[in-house]
Amino acid sequence: MDKTALYKLGYGLYVLTAREGDKDNGCIINTAIQVASDPLRIAISVINANYTCDMIKRTGQFNISCLTQSAPFGTFSHFGFSSGRDTDKFADWSGAQRAENGILYVSDNTNGYLSCRVLSSTDLGSHTLFVAELTDAAVLSDEISVTYAYYQSDIKPKPRPKTQKKVVYICKVCGYVYEGDQLPEDFICPLCHHTADDFERVELDG
Ligand SMILES: Cc1cc2nc3c(=O)[nH]c(=O)nc-3n(C[C@H](O)[C@H](O)[C@H](O)COP(=O)(O)O)c2cc1C
Repeated sequence: MDKTALYKLGYGLYVLTAREGDKDNGCIINTAIQVASDPLRIAISVINANYTCDMIKRTGQFNISCLTQSAPFGTFSHFGFSSGRDTDKFADWSGAQRAENGILYVSDNTNGYLSCRVLSSTDLGSHTLFVAELTDAAVLSDEISVTYAYYQSDIKPKPRPKTQKKVVYICKVCGYVYEGDQLPEDFICPLCHHTADDFERVELDG
């Protein structure tokens, strides 16, 4: 079995938000879809370790903000790389509005949001699958939705390519530097006239 076939599945990216008491929180998910039209049903799958998952289990409500291609990496790192257990993600976040259900939705770089009420939850081990009904929804813009593939190719910063090592040979007698991958065997130092045996091979960061 070639499990890399799983990478061929396409996804969108969303900010999943919840509210419990006075606490607002949200996390990035790629697992949100409409799974039925009559009656209309939405499904999300949320990692059990996520604080947002606990909040939804206890409150039975959530909003889904649909992110657009213009969403900067900061949106994904803010909601996707830290937990609401340790930080208040909305304390310094200006691009959010409260929906009718009292839960925030992200209003910047989003083209719509859905408000949902949980009908059932199934523990899948790593994740909980919530099936929900739609209680409210709004279109915010016509901008194109971001896909997981676009996030990977155009938004997520690329790791810096490793700099290639530059090889030099340094004369141990006088310090003369010969630049090149291979010092010729019959090389004579132009300064002190010592032979190749007196040279040391050194790798420098390119
Ligand atoms: C691109 C991306 C996709 C993600 N997809 C999911 C997902 O589908 N389900 C999920 O539960 N977490 C997903 N995460 C991870 C959560 O956003 C992350 O664990 C977050 O820090 C949880 O925050 P919380 O503890 O405040 O809920 C994703 C993160 C990123 C950056």
